[in-house]
Amino acid sequence: MSALLEVSGLNKHFGGLQAVRDVSFSIEPGEIVGILGPNGAGKTTLYNLLTGFIPFDSGSVVFKGRNLRGLAPYRIAGLGISRTFQLCRPFIGMSVLENAVVGGLGAQGIDRSDLDQRALALLDQVGLGGKALLPVETLSYGDQRRLEIARALAAKPALLLLDEPFAGLGSGEINDLSALIRSVHAEQGLTVMLIEHKLHEFMRLVDRVIALDFGEMIAEGTPEDIVRHPAVIEAYIGRGDEQAEEQTDAA
Ligand SMILES: Nc1ncnc2c1ncn2[C@@H]1O[C@H](COP(=O)(O)OP(=O)(O)OP(=O)(O)O)[C@@H](O)[C@H]1O
Ligand SMILES: [Mg+2]
Repeated sequence: MSALLEVSGLNKHFGGLQAVRDVSFSIEPGEIVGILGPNGAGKTTLYNLLTGFIPFDSGSVVFKGRNLRGLAPYRIAGLGISRTFQLCRPFIGMSVLENAVVGGLGAQGIDRSDLDQRALALLDQVGLGGKALLPVETLSYGDQRRLEIARALAAKPALLLLDEPFAGLGSGEINDLSALIRSVHAEQGLTVMLIEHKLHEFMRLVDRVIALDFGEMIAEGTPEDIVRHPAVIEAYIGRGDEQAEEQTDAA
């Protein structure tokens, strides 16, 4: 099987800070791959590099056999990589439906006239069908997280990058959103990358984990291997990071 995404020797620095250092991995079609790492490890930066939001210094990103270097975010989205954001950014002043429709604009193989229908079906799928015509600012935080996923799916991606989808949600909402991620993965054969600090749900969702620390890959393996990996334990609790300790306890 040829890889869906092939990342080789990726580097990005901000001034004197090496945010991503020589990162290489590949993702096979249909996998759910977790990106793990403490705050500031370079996880969101990695997504920004994969989606063209910021340029990388060196290395390569090849998606479906195509080199993505230098392509604008809308071109990369059009080729089939969608993302959600760590902080929800709905388009205020528009309806929930309009927000979902925007996600499908410019995607390959979707007719403009089908966009409303497709967005409505996705809103139904994420449990927002009844709220489609409401102003987006009336949504609760949990609903905004669901809308983020509907918006990202509107582009019919082959690869969905989720950046802390559970942040700020209660345990019931996290369970619902996990089930949603599982169902879109299973029903649409979607390949998923997941960044998440809620380790308990994270480890249950992912097939494989890539662990980063200070921009470098420190481990890669199954969830079972990763929780026992000395470098991961060191990154999370070895340096007495209180937040990380809480997260590890929760797992
Ligand atoms: N645009 C930028 N300019 C300068 N520094 C940046 C920029 N984006 C990220 N950084 C820095 O790069 C490092 C990695 O940041 P990044 O946001 O990728 O971390 P993260 O792993 O997503 O962390 P978190 O779990 O807190 O979201 C951090 O030290 C951050 O301050
Ligand atoms: Mg981040």
